[in-house]
Amino acid sequence: MVSRVIPVDPFDLVIFGGTGDLARRKILPGLFRRFLAGQMPEDATIIGAARSEMDDDGYRIMVQEAIVEFGGEDAARKAELDGFLQCVRYVSIDAKGEGGWKELAALVNQSRITAFYFSVAPSLFGDLAERLHHHGIADTQSRIVVEKPFGRDLVSARELNAVLAQHFNETQIYRIDHYLGKETVQNLMAVRFGNILFEPLWNSQYVDHIQITVAETVGVGGRGEYYNRSGAMRDMVQNHLMQLLCLIAMEPPSRFDPDAVRDEKLKVIRALEPVDSHEIVRGQYEKTPTEPGFREDAGDPRSRTESFIALKCHISNWRWAGTPFYLRTGKKLRVRTSEIAVVFKDAPHMIFGQEEGRHRNILSIRLQPNEGMTLGVTIKEPGPGGMRLIDVPLDMSFADALGDDVDEAPDAYERLIMDVIRGNQTLFMRGDEVEAAWAWTDPIIEGWETRNEVPKPYDVGSNGPEDAAMLMHRDGRRWREIRE
Ligand code: BG6
Repeated sequence: MVSRVIPVDPFDLVIFGGTGDLARRKILPGLFRRFLAGQMPEDATIIGAARSEMDDDGYRIMVQEAIVEFGGEDAARKAELDGFLQCVRYVSIDAKGEGGWKELAALVNQSRITAFYFSVAPSLFGDLAERLHHHGIADTQSRIVVEKPFGRDLVSARELNAVLAQHFNETQIYRIDHYLGKETVQNLMAVRFGNILFEPLWNSQYVDHIQITVAETVGVGGRGEYYNRSGAMRDMVQNHLMQLLCLIAMEPPSRFDPDAVRDEKLKVIRALEPVDSHEIVRGQYEKTPTEPGFREDAGDPRSRTESFIALKCHISNWRWAGTPFYLRTGKKLRVRTSEIAVVFKDAPHMIFGQEEGRHRNILSIRLQPNEGMTLGVTIKEPGPGGMRLIDVPLDMSFADALGDDVDEAPDAYERLIMDVIRGNQTLFMRGDEVEAAWAWTDPIIEGWETRNEVPKPYDVGSNGPEDAAMLMHRDGRRWREIRE
């Protein structure tokens, strides 16, 4: 199968924070990959903007090093890399002062698509937005890309939205949640809304419960200070898991267009019931004789921040009333895997005697690694000896079914940046969505703070704290095993 790559129109992309971690790890290697795929036009311009004093050549060396370090095998394509570097420019800029803005204005070509990636601390968003306008660098057609964390609570998210709204319309603002750029996450919509098969069963009458797991093996490493202030709730649940929950639970939008999709997601978030404290388990990984624990990684021996969350929530609407959603995510767990599992109810009447209640259809959607879907079905165990039932997976690994296309698919960042250039906001969060998500998480976090709650310790390489298993057991359910 050959993928179709549709080149985007020529553009000028300014990356504020162009020497930072995200630019080096994701944005620049991602753009190079799109360049290699023939999607990025050769006359596009990528302008790094940061505080450091450097000229274009100095920045090109940094970009090249970033691609060698984070771009995998792509970096070996020397001639193409040279071509890509010709698109790269640099401006040393003072976000809070006047330095560099005239030079930037001279570089940006407003007759083309212009996009400004704010890969900087949110406290600088206002300064950047104001100066872009003051110097006439951005106009009503320009696009602004902002990263999470988008605020740390409802109040700060509202403030950020208000700051951006002073200079830009909502249609110009692209709030990135890179989970929405993942191939399987979009496939979730394709599977739900491109097939008739699932929709009649997609409700509380047939679905017993839904599990969403995002398990990571990494710890917080060099991001200890940031993470200690945020924790798994702010870092993962309020955004990534919430977006997965929305896509799995939302009503079919009337069209696949940005506002139709985002309106439906917003309704899900607004329909989420407040969560009781006994329906949440917070955990923190503990040090082992050989590995640091969270407190060591965070440099805070008394830290009460969670590196693991498991919670149960409910969506109050006709489709989902009575069907619990169980969410869990954590760092330093046994394996890295992300999965959404839709666990269907038992067949209403079992004609095979003892087997009642033992077999369930489970639709598992694996986000990473090994993207794919499995539908567990019950069949007869082969051989003589009567009717014994077993569960087997109808397995569809995307790599098997689609071959090279899966490897060649753009990663989340690449896809989302190209969507910015195309002006497609479908996979970006709207301001009201982000605010609604904070409105739901704020009381939960406030509750922990008021009660001075200490997270439960868990072993590095485990499945998280024991209490997380209890959250399910007391409902007569259990978590799916986390497997690679
Ligand atoms: C980021 C979080 O948004 O997502 C990180 O800040 C987390 O803490 C990462 O590790 C996970 O992303 P992925 O794509 O590796 O699942």
